[in-house]
Amino acid sequence: MKVAVIGGGGREHTIVWKLAQSPKVEKIYAIPGGPGMKKLAECVPLDTNDLEGLAQWAKEHAIDLTVVGPEAPLVAGIVDVFKAHGLMIFGPSAKAAEIEGSKIFSKELMEKYGVPTAFFKVCSDLEEAKAYVREKGAPIVIKADGLAAGKGVVVAMTEAEALEALEEMMGTEHKFGSAGNRVVIEEFMDGEECSLLCFTDGRTIVPMIPAQDHKRVNDGDQGPNTGGMGAYAPAPVMTDALKQKTMDTIVRPVVEALAREGRPYSGCLYAGLMIKGDSIKVVEFNCRFGDPETQVVLPLLDGDLAEIMMACATGTLSPDMVRWSPKAAVCVVMASGGYPASYPKGIAITGLAEADALKDVVVFHAGTKEVDGRIVTNGGRVLGVTAIDDSIARAKERAYAAVDRIHFEGAHYRRDIAWRALKRLK
Ligand code: AMP
Ligand code: GLY
Repeated sequence: MKVAVIGGGGREHTIVWKLAQSPKVEKIYAIPGGPGMKKLAECVPLDTNDLEGLAQWAKEHAIDLTVVGPEAPLVAGIVDVFKAHGLMIFGPSAKAAEIEGSKIFSKELMEKYGVPTAFFKVCSDLEEAKAYVREKGAPIVIKADGLAAGKGVVVAMTEAEALEALEEMMGTEHKFGSAGNRVVIEEFMDGEECSLLCFTDGRTIVPMIPAQDHKRVNDGDQGPNTGGMGAYAPAPVMTDALKQKTMDTIVRPVVEALAREGRPYSGCLYAGLMIKGDSIKVVEFNCRFGDPETQVVLPLLDGDLAEIMMACATGTLSPDMVRWSPKAAVCVVMASGGYPASYPKGIAITGLAEADALKDVVVFHAGTKEVDGRIVTNGGRVLGVTAIDDSIARAKERAYAAVDRIHFEGAHYRRDIAWRALKRLK
């Protein structure tokens, strides 16, 4: 089987790495891919916004399955274009991907079908939004509608912070462009977050191993939100009973609701959840694999990823395809100095080979580039250093031992990835 993976970040590197282990896969292309994948895949520098061009290329290269990493091409309709050309592709249609593409669509769907989530109000007028914030008080959450690269969310602990966020999104500045034309103002949910990614072919739904991301930039969950500074799996906050409850009250109802609404969903459905005691509510849905959750989830998959993805695309998914290792994985994201604000690029990275050589350690490249045979930084999140071991504590130790071998000027990373699990498991 010839497979093409769309994307070039740490998530896509992990998908390529896992697909390369499948006996069914004879050749992998990554579009555009990146230096970390070069040993596993042929990188092809095509424009991932040119959906027709990608489909033509896939036809010419007789690609058996295309796997889409990021949300943007999914929301733009890559699956619809590929299907119109008779090509096999893993991921949801544009109409189904709206579950991530529009926060308002997603909230209204959950409300209509009684799926537990924070109460919310949609506002397209700045003064109306401000009045609502004053009425509800803080803490409160403000979200720009549409895709804002995970950064269009402000968890405001004070009313002043909330009003300032509204001004930034909806006022003259329009920080997130048209995504700020309408905002969702949401109840603040207290609790512990967990990401439950699921494979689905539209009918059968199989949860992956639960993972936990670390959104805040600094240790102790301080500082601004980022795309994710590290992750681990399995997340003990998600007990088997809670997982069952999530499937019964959240994931299955939403997959069925999307089908009923004429938007059947297949691919990976990512449920971002807030857990407090027995209560479990949706923070958000994503129409794709999580980043960096994928870097800890797929290394623990014992099944054949190519077989599973093909089954999702063809409506033949069966739960016995998806098996999990009893081990644990921890991923530490190494970021550029300054991230999530502005950061420099092109800084030389050393120690990659030394870290990669460690047993059960994989260095996934999130934002790197090769210049004259050397690997340099090329993004905010630069590397995802993952270690696999018998326990979260040991995997954490090993991940940091690998991180210690890698250097680039200004590198910063959290020192406390997996702290909630370790506290819980004590
Ligand atoms: P989202 O893009 O909707 O996932 O939001 C990004 C992050 O903001 C989430 O992962 C949470 O950490 C936080 N967040 C979003 N909505 C809420 C909420 N209603 N209550 C508390 N935290 C939230
Ligand atoms: N790790 C959060 C996300 O992928 O959206």
